[in-house]
Amino acid sequence: MYEGFYGFRERAFRKTPDPRFLFLSEAYEEALEQLLFAVEEMELALLTGEVGSGKTLLTRALVDKVGDRHEVGMVLNPRLSPRQFLAVAAAELGVAQPKFHASDLHAQIHDRLLELDDQGRAALLIIDEAHLIPEKATFEEIRLLTNFQLDDRNLISVLLCGQPELRERLRHKTYRALTQRIGAQFHLEALAAEDVPRYLAHRVQVAGGPALLFEPAAARRLHEASGGVPRVINQLATQSLIEGMARGSTRIGAAEVDAICEGQDFLDSLPRRADVAAFPAARR
Ligand SMILES: Nc1ncnc2c1ncn2[C@@H]1O[C@H](COP(=O)(O)OP(=O)(O)O)[C@@H](O)[C@H]1O
Ligand SMILES: [Mg+2]
Repeated sequence: MYEGFYGFRERAFRKTPDPRFLFLSEAYEEALEQLLFAVEEMELALLTGEVGSGKTLLTRALVDKVGDRHEVGMVLNPRLSPRQFLAVAAAELGVAQPKFHASDLHAQIHDRLLELDDQGRAALLIIDEAHLIPEKATFEEIRLLTNFQLDDRNLISVLLCGQPELRERLRHKTYRALTQRIGAQFHLEALAAEDVPRYLAHRVQVAGGPALLFEPAAARRLHEASGGVPRVINQLATQSLIEGMARGSTRIGAAEVDAICEGQDFLDSLPRRADVAAFPAARR
């Protein structure tokens, strides 16, 4: 694509959540620390953020940090009935042959957690896209999982990740038994204006590209056009690089970004800064 033209080793703005490209803004670093603390305390934790704000990448970074002390299971698509959810959770946590019935799966998961505890280890179950969980009964299974504990310690930590509507849904009183157990919560905001030039420079550097590739004016335009959402920044940055190559520019300025933003009506459907800011600020 554009790699050869600018001298990149690899593409700098892929869609995949690759932890090698992790940029730790202050907020992101705080989120990572809080989640790590929650996992170590074996809590039930909640992470929300708009589409493309970096939730999945944050879970990957978290898994890299927790190390071998935890057996990590990931439920990536929780559009599951309660029984299906338990079967996936069991397999993810290392149950060798998950059985069919929910009651058997419960027993198998419990045995597995005790086995891990004997080895001086603990379990972490990450449920991504949790806003897609179809039934309340599946949330009830999640709550029951957090019940697995010995007298003095929990055996499993669960991290629920999802879009802001997850938080709205859990506010409803039918979820009170679950939400009372949430020991840590974090809402990922979009990147602030001053973070965008650093974000761009970081990704360019990891991909082996030239320093100062994006001019400050280009970074400002990218922030405005994306609302600071990393996934959108990545899309626009890629297009700007292609535009720059077509123009023979070795640096990306406001002109390249303006050219690609013209006539992009999909931008109108994205959350704007004001909407993003309206969600509750990060708190424990
Ligand atoms: N702090 C960050 N550092 C580097 N890249 C990021 C960061 N946050 C998000 N991204 C990138 O933005 C894109 C969307 O992130 P993702 O984790 O998939 O978002 P979400 O799961 O919230 O929809 C991915 O390409 C990811 O690598
Ligand atoms: Mg995601």
